[in-house]
Amino acid sequence: MISAALPLPRLQLRCSECAAAQSEQGAAVFCDACGGLLAFELDAQVGFDVARYREVLAERRRSNEVVDRSGVWRFRELLPALVQEKIVTLREGEVPLYDARRGAEYANARRVRYMHLGMNPTASFKDFGMTVAISHARARGARLAICASTGNTSASMAAYAARAGMTAIVLVPDRGISEAKLAQTLDYGAKVVAIGGDFDAALEIVRTVDAKRFAIVNSVNPLRIEGQKTIALILLEASGWRVPDWVILPGGNLGNSSAIGKGFREAHALGLIDRIPRLAVVQAALAAPFVRAFETGMDLVPVHAETTATAIKIGAPASWRKSLAEVRASDGIVIAVSDEAIAESRAVVGLDGIGCEPASAASLAGLRVLVERGIVAPDDDVVLMLTGHMLKDTAYAAAYHAGAAPFANAIARVGNANDARRHLDELARKAG
Ligand code: F0G
Repeated sequence: MISAALPLPRLQLRCSECAAAQSEQGAAVFCDACGGLLAFELDAQVGFDVARYREVLAERRRSNEVVDRSGVWRFRELLPALVQEKIVTLREGEVPLYDARRGAEYANARRVRYMHLGMNPTASFKDFGMTVAISHARARGARLAICASTGNTSASMAAYAARAGMTAIVLVPDRGISEAKLAQTLDYGAKVVAIGGDFDAALEIVRTVDAKRFAIVNSVNPLRIEGQKTIALILLEASGWRVPDWVILPGGNLGNSSAIGKGFREAHALGLIDRIPRLAVVQAALAAPFVRAFETGMDLVPVHAETTATAIKIGAPASWRKSLAEVRASDGIVIAVSDEAIAESRAVVGLDGIGCEPASAASLAGLRVLVERGIVAPDDDVVLMLTGHMLKDTAYAAAYHAGAAPFANAIARVGNANDARRHLDELARKAG
């Protein structure tokens, strides 16, 4: 009822590279004319009623309707149109913002929050985009969904495809993806095909499948980007529409930075905010082709990626052009951090009582570097995106704590009850 009274901004599907208009009827992911990635362009019409829209959003937060309880579909007027009965939702997107006390101290900054995208149904940010991609795929009658993945996309696709009654097929690297992510994917019933290559090789295979037979749900699919742009809207809404100075996030295939940048840009074009935050994209040092492209201004040159943050072990990011455009539009930056810095930062996020998976901690490691370099001021209002839950990679955490790293927290192995009591006394004494 409320939504019917709202003016609807129009979204037009175009090629993000040659600008050719595309039909939304098919399952297209790549441009008919040049093979580039497609994007929905928002026509921010004059007369968008900002005050009314904010009211509607507030009303929806009090509603018990399933679509209103989703942090993605609450913004449905800003997404490609879909009749409500076709929506496949797991109540994604209602994610918390936390004060980052230890994280701020570690990075020598004062106003730092974590936005925990790992607090989603499948425990990563992918659910924001997957609900939109799978809903549209099912609505047009697709029976098969496919993706290449370092683990999180696969778990998310598998869950939503299961809800939609679709068959999901995943191509994953046969080594180096976390057991928890694989276990999730298997549990939700997806067919897992492990290839003797890395993520980049898996995505190459996906690019060549017939898009009429398979719904490709990697972030090359513009519907994924539309869903993930609501991360920006949720952040703004939860911050009373106050704009942070910086939003920092890890970059792998570069869909998420493209999406979040788009979300802020559109919120600005619609008049929901009066400026956009600066984006900082952080890569792992040996998986950082985007840093080089950003610094040189040249086309991205793929690399063979290596990092223990397996989620972002990507050497040929598909969405680099889109992401670069968003970073530049926001006066942002792209930097690299070492695997050691990621490991240490991940442990610090844990000490805040929050936790995240390794790749997510690149955001805190990045903040520390940016403060050191004087690019982020100690008083800047900073939001660190935590892209995946701590339990996504417990093997990594266990190995860290068994080692000798700065924040390692070793298990005390005591022989018998007397040793145990002695040890408890000692701990009590230390605690004062
Ligand atoms: N953080 C986590 C936890 C991820 O899983 C990913 C990507 C990223 C950050 C990077 O996001 O690719 O949009 O730049 N994971 C993908 C996957 C590649 O298959 O799960 P991006």
